[in-house]
Amino acid sequence: MADNLNIRICGLDFPNPFVIGSGPPSTNARIICKAFDAGWGGVVAKTTALTDTKVVNVQPRYGKLKMGNETIGFQNIELISDRPFEDWEADFKAVKDEHPDRILIGSVMESYEKGRWQEVSARSAEAGCDALELNFSCPHGHPEKGMGAAMGQDPDQVEEVTRWVVEAVDIPVWAKMTPNITDITLPAAAAMRGGAAGVSAINTILGVIGINMKNLKPMPTVEGHSTPGGYSYLAVKPIALRMVAELAQSNPAMPISAIGGVTNSTDAFEHILVGGSSVQVCTGAMLQGFEMVTELSEGVLALLEQHGFADLQSAVGHSLQYFTTHHDLVEKQAEKRALKAAAMANRETEWGKGRVQDETKALTSNED
Ligand SMILES: Cc1cc2nc3c(=O)[nH]c(=O)nc-3n(C[C@H](O)[C@H](O)[C@H](O)COP(=O)(O)O)c2cc1C
Repeated sequence: MADNLNIRICGLDFPNPFVIGSGPPSTNARIICKAFDAGWGGVVAKTTALTDTKVVNVQPRYGKLKMGNETIGFQNIELISDRPFEDWEADFKAVKDEHPDRILIGSVMESYEKGRWQEVSARSAEAGCDALELNFSCPHGHPEKGMGAAMGQDPDQVEEVTRWVVEAVDIPVWAKMTPNITDITLPAAAAMRGGAAGVSAINTILGVIGINMKNLKPMPTVEGHSTPGGYSYLAVKPIALRMVAELAQSNPAMPISAIGGVTNSTDAFEHILVGGSSVQVCTGAMLQGFEMVTELSEGVLALLEQHGFADLQSAVGHSLQYFTTHHDLVEKQAEKRALKAAAMANRETEWGKGRVQDETKALTSNED
């Protein structure tokens, strides 16, 4: 029976599969160390770029979707890190000095230039990152300049850029997929052709969190205006589960870091059952604090035990076997109904509806 949550992914030993997703809870060394102190197995740092990339954030930049007092959805129009890359190099070193046993994943995004992608990636690896995540998926702000989701929606660019990075580093590279696309398996396959070790999915879904009824302006409202942003948290979980399952079915050998809408251990276990070997949490940690990892760990261990899994790895993708086509569901149901009808016909209460001789004949095996 499973008595720990260790998992080896792409040669890296994670003490547990719970990873802080790139975002505010991973935006400098101090906060990353707080996540590790609380017990997270890995952290994906806030996305970085070379220092001359202009990043100017606005305030406010978040909005909530509420059901009564409960937050069910979250939206942000936050850009990638606005800190100089040299500060990040110092932070990566400091984090690895303090937590050598935890998995630190650098997240990089750059413009469509080989030299820039290779430089930011190689310097992240040199500074101590155990792996890299390529941000092909931020849906707001950066796509206006051909970056983020604009690249992730073009499988040729995904393949080419992944290959540039894989050439420049000798640590595992995950490509982070955008859900803002019809078929997520196409850029994922492109990333794998480019040499990625695996994929992460999903980043946020482009959305508008709501219109303020006091002034009829879309939110978050900045100087009286807004722009669509990235939607996350519990409300996106069904879409994330569908996409993680599609990725796992498209390539069972492809390691997937599953992301989207994880608020508790049941959500995390669902992501594992559809194919995630690690599970990332971003908004959950922002709203509940890093301590939520205690419930994630205890809850997933209890679920593994309840369902008789020998270890975490054996649960990865377990529920994929129960997905099929709608056509097949109809056939399965027709078969079941036919069996039920046959069983009904055999019951004693059915005798006497027709001629008794015919009923005897129907139950006799050697009748002509
Ligand atoms: C405020 C905020 C900032 C984010 N910044 C980044 C980022 O810099 N890079 C990135 O790859 N993803 C970023 N994300 C996306 C998350 O890493 C994650 O993919 C997404 O929010 C879905 O997971 P969740 O429902 O657990 O939040 C951000 C998300 C939020 C809410």
